[in-house]
Amino acid sequence: MIYKNLLLETKNNILYITINRESKLNALNKDTLADLHFALTDSFKDHVVKGIIITGTGQKAFVAGADISEFSSFNVDEGRNLAREGQTKVFDVIQNSDKPVIAAVNGFALGGGLELAMACHIRIASENAKLGLPEVSLGLIPGYGGTQRLPQLVGKGKALEMILSADMITASEAYRIGLVNHVVPQDQLLLKAEELLQKIISRSPCALASAIRAVNAAFTNDGFETEISEFGKCFGNEDFKEGVAAFAEKRNPAFKGK
Ligand code: COA
Repeated sequence: MIYKNLLLETKNNILYITINRESKLNALNKDTLADLHFALTDSFKDHVVKGIIITGTGQKAFVAGADISEFSSFNVDEGRNLAREGQTKVFDVIQNSDKPVIAAVNGFALGGGLELAMACHIRIASENAKLGLPEVSLGLIPGYGGTQRLPQLVGKGKALEMILSADMITASEAYRIGLVNHVVPQDQLLLKAEELLQKIISRSPCALASAIRAVNAAFTNDGFETEISEFGKCFGNEDFKEGVAAFAEKRNPAFKGK
């Protein structure tokens, strides 16, 4: 398989998946999501791979979100499908993986980027990382599970503050509120992720898979469906058109509430 936007390497039973679109801050376009789906499902069949680390190319961004240029003219149905496809083919696949998945957050983790990190079982951030769900500044809401997984990790109050304000937080604040498990200098990020994952994969693979399933079961709800539907509805609003136009034109949006 030739991947357009991923670099893959397996070393010491760990598969490293590096999202490789540095000029667009590793934003998740359609091709990247398709690549991720194939890389993940392929790795589940590979007996050599016992754990996975996901990171981004470069020192600036893990992933700066879903690729805004691809969905700027979507209608409500297309918006809903975008969220559903992404969730079922990538984000839920990571969450439900029998093999442990660690996000090594090497810079901006915004929108779909933070949602990707949150779908992973564990998150380690570099000191320069900035994390947030800025979708409401585009007239949208998170659509890849962010409205569900953020409150699971940090509680409802802090999650609502982050989602409604669209503010980014620093790595140390993310550590303080439990959004990331560890913060380390950027040059030690992969080392720290490897060290933790090596310890984890030395345990029983059957027990790891059972533990992941059991912990996930504590959070089953239908909120993901509500998110998909509400995400889709945003695409019917004038505010969404204004939000994405403002991003493309590098100006502040003037929302009308319609
Ligand atoms: N989708 C598409 N392209 C994106 C992107 C995204 N989510 N995030 C960044 N890019 C692109 C920019 O358009 C720019 O492309 P260009 O050089 O062709 O103009 C390139 O990546 C570099 O980004 P730029 O904005 O110039 O870098 P910056 O250092 O000034 O700002 C960010 C960095 C992360 C603050 C800014 O890129 C940003 O706000 N991105 C969008 C975040 C977002 O809203 N994500 C949620 C999407 S639902």
